[in-house]
Amino acid sequence: MRWTLAAWLAILLLLPCHLAGASSGSSSSSRLRLFTDERRVELREQVRELFQHGYDGYMKYAYPADELRPVTCGPLHRDPTNVNFGINDIHPNASITLLDVLSSLPLVLPSEFPDAVRRVATEVSFDQDVKVQVFEMTIRALGSLLSTYQYLDRLPDEPVAQARALGLTGKAKAAKKGKGVDVKQYRGRLLEMALDLGKRLLPAFNTVTGLPYARVNLRKGLDKGESVETCTAGAGSLVLEFAVLSRLTGDERFEVSEARGGSCDSQSAGELSLSHSPEQALAQRAYLAIWNRRSTHNLVGNTIGVTHGHWLAPGLTGVGAGIDSYFEYGIKAAILLDDDVYLDIFQDTYAAIQTHVRTPDGFIYRPIQFRLLQPGLPSTIDSLSAFLPGMQVLAGDIESAIRSHLVWWNLWRKYDALPETWIWQERKIEWAGWPGRPEFIESTYYLYQATRDPFYLRVGERVLNDLRRRTKTKCGFATLKNVETGELEDRMESFMLSETLKYLFLLFDPAPATPPTNRVFTTEGHGLSLPFSKLQKTSATRRAMHRGEDLFCPAYEPPTLGGLVVGIERRLDYEYARSLVFGWGVDGRVIEDKESVQWWEGGFCSLPLAPTFSFDIVLTPLNATDQEVPPEDPAPSASKVRRDDATGDFVVADVSGLRLSVRWRLDNRGYDVASIGPHRVRPGQQVFVTDQKMEGYLPIPANPPATLHAPPEVLLRFSTISSKGERAVFLHAAASTATFGKSFGSAGSAGFGIGGLGMLIRPKVNVDGCRAFKPGEIPEVRGVLVLDRGECPFLTKTLHAKMAGMDGVLLVGLAPTPPELLVQDPSTPGVAAGSGSGSQTEGLIRPSADGEPEELLHRVSELGVVYVEHIVGQVVLRMMDVERKAVAVEMMLLEAEPAREDLKPGGGGDGRDKAREGRVMVNDWEIWNLRVRERPP
Ligand SMILES: *[C@@H]1O[C@H](CO)[C@@H](O)[C@H](O)[C@H]1NC(C)=O
Ligand SMILES: *[C@@H]1O[C@H](CO)[C@@H](O)[C@H](O)[C@H]1NC(C)=O
Repeated sequence: MRWTLAAWLAILLLLPCHLAGASSGSSSSSRLRLFTDERRVELREQVRELFQHGYDGYMKYAYPADELRPVTCGPLHRDPTNVNFGINDIHPNASITLLDVLSSLPLVLPSEFPDAVRRVATEVSFDQDVKVQVFEMTIRALGSLLSTYQYLDRLPDEPVAQARALGLTGKAKAAKKGKGVDVKQYRGRLLEMALDLGKRLLPAFNTVTGLPYARVNLRKGLDKGESVETCTAGAGSLVLEFAVLSRLTGDERFEVSEARGGSCDSQSAGELSLSHSPEQALAQRAYLAIWNRRSTHNLVGNTIGVTHGHWLAPGLTGVGAGIDSYFEYGIKAAILLDDDVYLDIFQDTYAAIQTHVRTPDGFIYRPIQFRLLQPGLPSTIDSLSAFLPGMQVLAGDIESAIRSHLVWWNLWRKYDALPETWIWQERKIEWAGWPGRPEFIESTYYLYQATRDPFYLRVGERVLNDLRRRTKTKCGFATLKNVETGELEDRMESFMLSETLKYLFLLFDPAPATPPTNRVFTTEGHGLSLPFSKLQKTSATRRAMHRGEDLFCPAYEPPTLGGLVVGIERRLDYEYARSLVFGWGVDGRVIEDKESVQWWEGGFCSLPLAPTFSFDIVLTPLNATDQEVPPEDPAPSASKVRRDDATGDFVVADVSGLRLSVRWRLDNRGYDVASIGPHRVRPGQQVFVTDQKMEGYLPIPANPPATLHAPPEVLLRFSTISSKGERAVFLHAAASTATFGKSFGSAGSAGFGIGGLGMLIRPKVNVDGCRAFKPGEIPEVRGVLVLDRGECPFLTKTLHAKMAGMDGVLLVGLAPTPPELLVQDPSTPGVAAGSGSGSQTEGLIRPSADGEPEELLHRVSELGVVYVEHIVGQVVLRMMDVERKAVAVEMMLLEAEPAREDLKPGGGGDGRDKAREGRVMVNDWEIWNLRVRERPP
């Protein structure tokens, strides 16, 4: 990645790379701990027991009340003052806890299911004089009723066969409870109840904007003078439940069934609207009403007035409370309904988040002013936004999911729970409560499904233990009022069972993941699906567009270090994420006794930098002079750009003034063009530029250099060594290994150190090692010689180190080019196609000795050779020369697993015809779906 000198200095100032006196703990290495199926089942059964405990407590002490008081063991009722929204919004006086857990019972506690479904069907009524939240009723009650209906619908008709399907077959008492009970008889009643509840929510939609009021009285409809304020998530995430309700009942008021508006070929820039009357398709209208009020950067605000549709103060956007499920329902609606309208909107919203809300390192998603794009200072991240990694997995962006999840994981490690809000710049809690929210464990579940890395099972085990230890009471699970003191609040929200424990159960359940279908969990964890007969017909154009790429599931590539496959905990940025939460200082050690995680005393001297996610470029012919640069053409004619109906690809005959929006590919291999002017380019579609003006420049770098991102990085840690032999880590840094010398981590190699004990030795003269060392120039001890890059070949330096009796060589890169010479700002890539490459920064390179005689290479085959960037060398040499400390270096232990073959650059090369073609690079990354060609394919 690119660094200017100024940026390096800023990092030096920000990161206390010199940490005085941090005495090191034992650096025991935690090898890749395996997680057996037996262990998983054991943990799953522990979760089941907890679930039973909470369920029994609710049924015994609280039912038919909406919630249980887990500390005093009694029912929690609505607050008669009517202003306590925190309770009353979710208390319809309809046994909401039972309703919410109902859909989980067949999976987690099947023996309780027959009784529970009978009670819901016969004892619960929504005819209540209570004001509740439309969103909460939709996700907790409506979603569960529909999900349970669909479950019952799939059951066999015969009661005995039903019991078998529920797993109630043994001799146990529990099994007897459910035997011979016909549970399927209630399915009609559940759908009826769902429709009844849905209708009671409809008065909320009585606005010209289509945005629903946040609250409604279930019996009396809208209150006079009801608050017009609602949030984006509340108004915009009703689509899944309303769609299933609509398509199962044929009632078009909720979503829509047949003649649907919002065309599939709709364009990203246009207004989306429906051809329906205002009384129809209400959830879809509300979703689009939010989207149509987005900013020019495709961002939406948090709070909006339903009558006029104005965004309300303070005008922040982000991914947390108030917005969260709006994004989630975009991708989930695209999956459930198989609908490109939602997919297109989701991809635009997601690109906006990745571009503006995510920090440049790619880890933190913080609130920003949605028009000014300024982050708040100080600003917080909240526990609700821990849903994000799960959504990123669904979107196919596993790399981003891993990174964002690591932040919440470290927060969990730090507090043994997740504080509701946390000030990320100051690394301190703002709001210390944890009501048992599920989002973090839900994301852990998705990430485990996507990566199969046992790390996520260990995360789940930790959550399970903390949850039991800190929140379990004699009749249920309490809310943590303060994650630091452990003080309890007498409340158990329904999602503690229906989501938190359910996702933990799913995480440990070794049953294979369900095959990818149009089935999703709602934001409250209720499974919904739609049979093909209920989906919209796919048009021929859409089918043509969908050839080529799998939209949702790029294969996961596990991290490698030095060519070896390793787990998430061995990623270079794992320690970086830890330091974001724990800091680089002494407080980083508070977790020392709890876990055998090592290496966290030192500062980290190579910040990750995620590539800019999306940006626009306006194309200009390469030979245009400044005066001739054509203006942007917002509505290019078909003679400039057209879509080839046969192939679905785009052909650009004239580049002048075309605006391309370019987006990061979710498989992390570079960029794709996402739109050309008003035309949306979908994954799998290619863009061919055949403009004659480009021809003289072909091929534009023929193929990306294969080694561009090749240096296999390893993690080094540097410690000072006192006269008593005590080590104190002061720095972590990324390094690359050389193509010659010792082969690190290969099977049978003894140890993974660079060489010997890793003591660093710096020559006083001949610092680049380009001539042989004379006796007395360096001490006669074994160690790792620190040499500057330059003046002679890497192999020469290494041979001289070998002749001087050294075990290894640490090569230090050259100082970066002064900032004024680095003209390229990643946010404004070159304006002309093909001008985007040519980085001048050093970064990590991979020392090689190509073409050198085999015999010479053999002589240094036992020496470890690694390369670090200039800045790292400066910090280390300062410690040795100025602080006069003895310094040793260690390399992160690598697990000796077979290496995977590196990703081969795909695309192109299909040999369809022999036209010369070129690829376009932006900041070292290729735009994969863009080709400049002599003639159309
Ligand atoms: C709750 O529902 C029950 C039964 O339907 C009813 O008797 C009771 O009055 C309701 N309570 C409130 C506060 O509406
Ligand atoms: C740029 O190239 C095109 C096509 O080769 C040519 O027609 C045009 O005159 C050139 N413009 C300049 C400024 O050289």
